[in-house]
This record gives sequence, C-alpha cells and structure tokens, in this order.
Amino acid sequence: LRVFVPCETTALSLGAGDVATLISREAEARGLEIELVRNGSRGLFWLEPLVEVDDGTGRRAFGPVDTADVASLLDSHFGDDHPLALGPTDELPWLKQQQRVTFARLGVTDPVSLNDYRATGGFDGLHNALELTPQQLVDKVKASGLRGRGGAAFPTGIKWQTVLDAAGAQKYIVCNADEGDSGTFADRLVMECDPYMLIEGMIIAGLAVGATQGYIYLREEYPLAHRHLDLAIARAEAAGYLGNNIQNSGRAFALEVRLGAGAYICGEETSLLESLEGKRGMVRAKPPLPAIEGLFGLPTVVNNVLSLAAVPSILRDGPEHYAGFGVERSRGTLPFQLAGNIAQGGLVELAFGHSLRELIEDFGGGSASGRPVRAVQVGGPLGAYLSPAQFDTALDYEAFSAIGAVLGHGGVVVFDDSVDMAEQARFSMEFCVEESCGKCTPCRIGSTRGVEVIDRIMRGENRDANMALLEDLCDTMIQGSLCAMGGMTPFPVKSAYTLFPEDFQRQGGEA
Ligand code: NAI
Ligand code: SF4
Repeated sequence: LRVFVPCETTALSLGAGDVATLISREAEARGLEIELVRNGSRGLFWLEPLVEVDDGTGRRAFGPVDTADVASLLDSHFGDDHPLALGPTDELPWLKQQQRVTFARLGVTDPVSLNDYRATGGFDGLHNALELTPQQLVDKVKASGLRGRGGAAFPTGIKWQTVLDAAGAQKYIVCNADEGDSGTFADRLVMECDPYMLIEGMIIAGLAVGATQGYIYLREEYPLAHRHLDLAIARAEAAGYLGNNIQNSGRAFALEVRLGAGAYICGEETSLLESLEGKRGMVRAKPPLPAIEGLFGLPTVVNNVLSLAAVPSILRDGPEHYAGFGVERSRGTLPFQLAGNIAQGGLVELAFGHSLRELIEDFGGGSASGRPVRAVQVGGPLGAYLSPAQFDTALDYEAFSAIGAVLGHGGVVVFDDSVDMAEQARFSMEFCVEESCGKCTPCRIGSTRGVEVIDRIMRGENRDANMALLEDLCDTMIQGSLCAMGGMTPFPVKSAYTLFPEDFQRQGGEA
C-alpha cells in the first residue's frame, strides 16, 4: 500500500508532518506494510492535509486528516466508509473541472524525485528542444501564444526573439521567483512541488536565446522552495541535464538560486536585476529593456516562474496543444489562486475564458464566513477591486482590461460584506508607502499624501474637496510614476471609491 502525505508548506503548516510520522508509526505497530511517499500538494488547501492511498487500483483521497484521525484510518484500512473518505482523487469535482496543463503533475509526484519527473513526461520537452535550432524554438513559443504570467502578459516568444537577436558575449535567463502579490502562491507551488519543470523550462529558454547561465531570484520567505530547488538542481546536474554538455549535445547551461531579502519592489524586473548584481533594489528607467541590456548590462530574459514552467509542456505536446486552450489573444491556461475570505481556497488552473463567478462560487464555494461576497481583488495589491455586478466578466486579459482591471498573476482575494472599502483603499496607499523604492516623486511622496487624504475622507473632513484631491493624486501617480508600483497603486483606490462610494461618505466635522 502506497500512502501519500504532502510535504508542501500549506499542508505542513496544517500538520502534514505530524500526520506522516504518525501514519508510519501506527502502521508499524499494526504490522501493516506501507510505502510512505511525500508528494506535493494537489492545491486543494481547504482539504489539507490531504492523504492519498494507492493499493494498485488508483489513488483515493482522505481529508482533511488530523493526527487524531490516523488510528481510525489505519483501522479501517483506509476504507471508503471512513468519514474522511473523499473517493478517487481524480474524480474530485474540484480537480476534475480544472484544465491542469502546467500543474498536471502537482501533488501527483514526489517533487524531488528525478524518476517521478521522468516517468510523467519530464524532460521530454528538453529532448525535443535539443533537436531544434534557436529560431525554431522561439517560433514554437510564439506559436503557443504564451504571454508573460508574472502579470504584464507581454508575449513570451517576442521577448525571447529580442534576446536571441541581441548581440552579447554572454546572455542570461533570469527567473523572477520573487512572488510578492497578496494571496498568490502558484510560483511557490511550482518550486516546492515540481521544481524540475522550472529547471527544464529555463534550460529550454537558454537553448532558445543562446544563454548559458541562469539565475532563479527567489524570495527568502520561501525556504522549502529553496531546499527543493537546490536539491533538484544538484540531481539534474548529476544526471547531465545541466552543465557543459547537456545530454551529450555539446550545449551548456548552468543554474543557480539567489535569494532576495524581502522587498516587494524586487519583483519589478529592473529592480530585481539591480539586486541580483548585489546593489540596492532600485528601479531602472526603461529603455533600455532588460532584453537588450539586462543583468550586468547584457541581454537577459527575465521571465516569471509560471511563464518558464509552461515551456516544457509546449515543447513536449506542441504549441498547438497549448494554444488550443483559452480565448482570443489569451491562449493557454492561468493558475488562479483563491485566497482571502473563501470557503474552498487553493489553486485552480483553468483555460482563459471562464468567469470570475465560476471561480468564486463553483470552485470557491463562496465566503468562508458564510456572509455575502462584497468585493474581490484580482491581480495582487495593484489590481482593481471588483464588485459582484462584474463577476460574469470573462477571465481573459483583454476582457479584464476593458473594465479597468487586471488578471495579473492570477491572485483572487475575496472579501465579505463586513469589509470597509475606504480602509482597503487606505491600505493600498500605505502598501505603496512601505514598498516604494523612492526613485520617483509621484510614488514616493504621492502615496504618503494619499494615506493622509484618505484619512481625512474617513474622518468626514471636507469630503468633496478631498475626494477631488484624491482623484487628482491618483491620476498624477498613474501618469507620472516610473514603474507599476506607483503607476498601478491608484487602480485599487479608484475602483474602491467608484464601486463602493458609500464607504467614502463618512459624516464628520469640517477641517
Ligand atoms: P511592462 O509592460 O513594462 O513589461 C512587460 C515585460 O515585457 C517586461 O519584461 C519588459 O521588459 C518586456 N518587454 C516590453 N517590450 C518588449 C520588447 N519590445 N521586447 C522584449 N521585451 C519587452 O510591465 P512590468 O512593469 O514588467 O510588469 C508590470 C506587471 O507586473 C503588472 O501588470 C502587475 O500585474 C505585475 N506584478 C506582478 C507581481 C507578482 O508578484 N507576480 C508583483 C507586482 C506586479
Ligand atoms: Fe520606485 Fe515607486 Fe517610482 Fe517605481 S513608481 S520607480 S517603486 S518610486
């Protein structure tokens, strides 16, 4: 009997480590022979720790499992009549209704097992890539329609083309793993649960643009991702997937993890490059684009974890397969991350084109508190708030842009009707005060003034004049900021007072 207990951070924080230890001990005490596998998480966080068993007839799930449940689970021989039995894992509606492409392996395998990776199609994409010229590789990525999954949705193939065409004695692949958006965890799940996929994507990117060195810029708040990546890199190297002669092809690619020190702005690509060069994380003016003058002034691909993680399946199954998912100019899939006040939080990978309502109601099961959902913030702390009247908007880049919102990195944070949207607007400005790199005035000074103006509005002082001032300030930040930090902070603020004006109409004295 194989028993699977996740070794991923969410599951561990909910007690998966103790559950695993106890299952081993109790099985031994009963003379029951089991093989304990530490898999990744399936991404169904509200069911973690989700324990699975396989007696040769397929995997069956049980959850959420507490240490107090372990004895009865073993006594019942993981029977289908146990109160925690959920049936065959693949039949769980929450999983079955997803289109798992990039996350197909999530929770299925032991994350650091090279054998598991290879047995599930791992490195097939790389083997195909080794047969192609750099231009053919770039063309495949272009044909897939993949757009940057960090949030900006710039076509990945065009970015690669720019780097391929740029002259440079050395070129770099830099993976942006500084996942900083509120409520997001998709990058972390890739690195903790399927690290070889990211490594494979980076090697293919290197082959495509002629880069022989890669760096993963990882936020230091992800220690388990760090451990899994380091272990996977060492094993991939030992197996000849990294180094000077990849699979005896004569091609080279080396890879290292570098840790950030916990600044949101280091997720902005130029600030990240400064930090990677050992300097303070300050934003650089663009142009020049990093694709032309990036790390150490040399041509550099900076891609988010999810963009690079999508590449192995594109090379394995063909760009047409990937482009077959989605709608219009939003091709492929996006892993949505349901968080905040949500009954069923976790990772939902869907083709573009579904609705926000499906995500929140069908997958999320509504709010965790049971109260009506009032607002949802999509795309991280710089994304607009949406009201229930907008929940039928299709989840695609252009449809969101048309309503002044962003899909960003796929983070979906849910609030019930107890939320105070003036407080949320204030929080956006306050976040910008904390995280601004300080290089330009609209962001550095504007965000501080923004907090003060919202405070006055919340106290009911000179409401109309202060609302006009806030609007003016938001427009100045949008138009005058050097990067998305100051340039997008007004989006959640504006959407808060436009969609929820009643929260900004406090009674109070004149200033
Ligand atoms: P951007 O629109 O300036 O650039 C997008 C990417 O395309 C960059 O890598 C840029 O260098 C590249 N690019 C543009 N033109 C190019 C060309 N002709 N050739 C080659 N490459 C080209 O957007 P930016 O400032 O990089 O990102 C903003 C986005 O970041 C926001 O939309 C936001 O959603 C997202 N974001 C994500 C976070 C996360 O944790 N994932 C955190 C904060 C923001
Ligand atoms: Fe720095 Fe803010 Fe200006 Fe961006 S907008 S460069 S974070 S001061």
